[in-house]
Amino acid sequence: MPHQRLSLSLGYDVVLAEDFGGLAGELQACLPGSTRALVVTHPRIRALHGAALAAELHGVGIEWLEVPEGEAHKSLDTWRALVARLLESRPDRQVPVVAFGGGVVGDLAGFAASTVLRGLPFVQVPTTVLAAVDASVGGKTGVNVPQGKNLVGAFYQPRLVWAPLATLDTLPVEERRCGLGEIVKHCIIAGGSALARLEADAPALLAGEKAAFAAAIADSVAVKAAIVERDPLERGERALLNLGHTLGHAVESVLGYGAVRHGEAVAIGIVAVARLGVARGWTSPRVASRVEALVARLGLPTRVPPGTSAGALHEAMGFDKKRARGMVRLVVFSEPGEVRLESVPEGELGALAELGVSA
Ligand SMILES: NC(=O)c1ccc[n+]([C@@H]2O[C@H](COP(=O)([O-])OP(=O)(O)OC[C@H]3O[C@@H](n4cnc5c(N)ncnc54)[C@H](O)[C@@H]3O)[C@@H](O)[C@H]2O)c1
Ligand SMILES: [Zn+2]
Repeated sequence: MPHQRLSLSLGYDVVLAEDFGGLAGELQACLPGSTRALVVTHPRIRALHGAALAAELHGVGIEWLEVPEGEAHKSLDTWRALVARLLESRPDRQVPVVAFGGGVVGDLAGFAASTVLRGLPFVQVPTTVLAAVDASVGGKTGVNVPQGKNLVGAFYQPRLVWAPLATLDTLPVEERRCGLGEIVKHCIIAGGSALARLEADAPALLAGEKAAFAAAIADSVAVKAAIVERDPLERGERALLNLGHTLGHAVESVLGYGAVRHGEAVAIGIVAVARLGVARGWTSPRVASRVEALVARLGLPTRVPPGTSAGALHEAMGFDKKRARGMVRLVVFSEPGEVRLESVPEGELGALAELGVSA
């Protein structure tokens, strides 16, 4: 597979690569003068793919910094420990922090990179589908705090994103599927050929075929990159990337993080928005059925599990930060490619919750 490269106007490239071959040269080109790299990862990822990364970077001194796995460790405690380790390695401002892993590693390492010495160069090497299509593009870094998820952090753009698709071979199938939720979102935002290709490739994606993942990831990264280029600090258009997330976040918090994966919750949220669109006349039944069929064909859920309370989901959405003066901003769509923010009364969230629950 030839490398696919997207050069963002934010000043960095996203490279979708077969494996690690070429990363050393790329690092040298974008960070000349750096003689070592501080690689933040999980023990599991290091065990699976660390040797291949180290072989490519043999000319660069690697220092490994391991952080514990799991969303629960995307915390201020882990950030504090990581910052201490980074400082102990006495970096100068040429030494890159390389996030080697999924979104948890990326968010933590990026936030640490943004704060140590007021900013060390940051490089993302995503190893999950979700991290490749979402967490590694756009510069959002941060940690969870008791008050909520991702509430402490910084916008901090990487110098390079290098996605080695070979690492996806060891990714558990449910983690791959989770990434597909965000891919569906990006393809609905884009519409056109990206969505058509995703539909055509659904069986191949379900079967885990690499070429299909490479194509879907490439399309998806292009969609997200174009939006964050135009609105890096989420002052406007970038909010469209919250499609499916209003209900999705509520599903995660009501069912419990871990009981449902983020991408699954987003898929449920997208289908509910489509159904609300039909009820309110924004979306044709044909478009809503098309979206729901795609979600199902990708093996993602279209509804919350039976027994989930719509009232509890509605209440959980009450804490959504988009709420203001009894009105909420909801990302809706009329057609694929025609996604917009709609101001709706808060009560519409109750209807959205019902639609996520009902058959
Ligand atoms: N910054 C952003 O813009 C942004 C966007 C979306 C999501 N996120 C964040 O991303 C996080 C979720 O990321 P995620 O879904 O990648 O989860 P994750 O980072 O927890 O990774 C999932 C699991 O897979 C393992 N893993 C990773 N790569 C592997 C591989 N190649 N082979 C085998 N196992 C592997 C990890 O060790 C982990 O246990 C959340 O914290 C979310 O808030 C951030
Ligand atoms: Zn998301």
